[in-house]
Amino acid sequence: MTEETLSNLLHEERRFEPPAAVAEHANLKAEAYERAAADPEAFWAEQAGRLDWAQSWDQVLDWSDPPFAKWFVGGRLNASYNCVDRHVEAGRGDKVALHWVGEPVEDKRDITYAQLKDEVSRAANALTELGVGTGDRVAIYLPMIPEAVVAMLACARIGAPHTVVFGGFSADALASRLEDCQAKVVITSDGGYRRGSASALKPAVDEGRAKAAELGHTVEKVLVVRRTGQDVAWDDEVDVWWHDVVDSASAEHTPEAFDSEHPLYVMYTSGTTGKPKGILHTTGGYLTGASYTHWAVFDLKPDTDVYWCSADIGWVTGHSYMVYGPLANGATQVMYEGTPDSPERGRWWKIIEDYGVTIFYTAPTAIRSFMKQGREIPDRYDMSSLRILGSVGEPINPEAYVWYREVIGGGRTPVVDTWWQTETGSIMISPLPGVTHGKPGSAMTPIPGVGAEVVNDAGEPVPNGSGGYLVLTQPWPSMLRTIWGDDQRFKDTYWSRFKEQRYYFAGDGAKKDEDGDIWVLGRVDDVMNVSGHRLSTTEIESALVSHPKVAEAAVVGAKDEDTGQAVCAFVILRESALDSGGGDGGDDIVAELRQHVRKEIGPIATPRQIMIVPELPKTRSGKIMRRLLKDVAEHREVGDVTTLADSSVMDLISKGLGSGTAEG
Ligand code: PRX
Repeated sequence: MTEETLSNLLHEERRFEPPAAVAEHANLKAEAYERAAADPEAFWAEQAGRLDWAQSWDQVLDWSDPPFAKWFVGGRLNASYNCVDRHVEAGRGDKVALHWVGEPVEDKRDITYAQLKDEVSRAANALTELGVGTGDRVAIYLPMIPEAVVAMLACARIGAPHTVVFGGFSADALASRLEDCQAKVVITSDGGYRRGSASALKPAVDEGRAKAAELGHTVEKVLVVRRTGQDVAWDDEVDVWWHDVVDSASAEHTPEAFDSEHPLYVMYTSGTTGKPKGILHTTGGYLTGASYTHWAVFDLKPDTDVYWCSADIGWVTGHSYMVYGPLANGATQVMYEGTPDSPERGRWWKIIEDYGVTIFYTAPTAIRSFMKQGREIPDRYDMSSLRILGSVGEPINPEAYVWYREVIGGGRTPVVDTWWQTETGSIMISPLPGVTHGKPGSAMTPIPGVGAEVVNDAGEPVPNGSGGYLVLTQPWPSMLRTIWGDDQRFKDTYWSRFKEQRYYFAGDGAKKDEDGDIWVLGRVDDVMNVSGHRLSTTEIESALVSHPKVAEAAVVGAKDEDTGQAVCAFVILRESALDSGGGDGGDDIVAELRQHVRKEIGPIATPRQIMIVPELPKTRSGKIMRRLLKDVAEHREVGDVTTLADSSVMDLISKGLGSGTAEG
């Protein structure tokens, strides 16, 4: 929490009232807060009623063995049926589910709910044919093409938990996930379109599969969608074309109802240690949370709204607010394959104009990059269809909020700043667009049904006007159930800090302003937020140290105008590397290390800066004082060094930096 952020808070006095039209017809009105607080379980049961259950539950919540919650105990349902079939059965089969927009401008496809049902059914039959059974894990490594949605829903339909791995992740990252969740099948494509050209995906799967095999895990089949037509290496024993097995499969498939607590998916996210955490979400509670929040927070009117969430399916936002929430709600939505600037910088705004998008959900990092390009670009498009804007992934700077509202929303649209996490499964803290006034930079209050607080070290709520740790005070249906294969880590990470109070510790710092509204200030642990994506310092440090020339590494997230935070690494080279001429901190070694991190984790983790240093600042107990390195990375006067074992270290670092810094 920098002082700058806090002083911004103090001076932020702009307020935006909900537009009368939104307020009048709001899905959720002010009374919901009290109703939910009076009887949270009854409120959540009402929200679960938004779904079709093959068998109703006997008990709303079983919290007898915390932190292991069970929601809608005894209930049975099928997530895929809820996202697809039931809309067709209700006579809405001809409604467009997806306006899919490829990056090449001529590529587009509208898919109705009836078509989606057929395609999901075919894919479910094909997966069964390939030997995928209930409970088997399937990894999905795909670009933003309709098959990605189809694949997820097909897995859900047969009760095979999916784990979607972001297409920007490397073969190594893929391999560790394949191994951790023991994925039986991988669904991928030859490639996808990004920034105007075809980029390959299948080679990373081939390599990832080989690496998983080295770790002792065998992937049985790889199902490959043909998207770009690139040449791909082929292993007849393992590789299968999607069009060979899915297109010819039957479009009839009866979905089985699974237990409410049946695993729906595992989503890997960074934690404070090197090993990514497989966050487990189960069926009934998760779908309830996704459906309810998508309807309430975006005030969705499924018959008239055209919704667009720009997140990739490789992140939790793509899961909850592109797949499960909107489809459970029978929404019509846009799905876009490519980057915002291809073929030209106005591409997103053109899509909004072309499809008459009414609700748009994106991340502050994107908004900041558009701000930088100037309003002339969005001003060329007619975006008067927009009525609600959303933001997620990191704190939105008040200036970016106001720009978003004014330039993209024409000054009419409420902006909902939604705070949540992979672990929470759905939005926890946000304004309600027809109820809450907007305050630029604040996520405001927990939504009805959710309990959140800002507490001090002792777990006591802080008074208004003060800061502390953000906690969730009561269980909620879409909460993570555990970390895949590691119950102990689940308890330690989220539930041990405020064990006595049974609070969920989110890992974020926050402040309550004088009105009691919440301002999320960012992570308090060793997790960075780069362009709204979580990266762990340890994970990148481990990647650096795995390079033969590196002896030690420390990574910090430094403030960055474009990406929120950027990766800055401080590296001590091995003597052998110094001897062979790598010790001058020259560009070659820096470039080599950046490339190495890219390969180990993915482009998103590439350090903006690598500084070759002779020493790292450590406490007497050997803990690296990242706070001091952060001062250096953010070009600040270095703070208190009295707890350092050797206080001259910071001088050494500062001196060494003259030659050892390289940006890229
Ligand atoms: O630090 C918070 C930040 O993103 C973290 C969650 O990251 P992830 O699990 O990858 O999920 C991102 C999409 C939900 C949080 O711990 N964060 C997310 N939304 C906000 C936010 N910080 C401030 N304001 C937000 N609206």
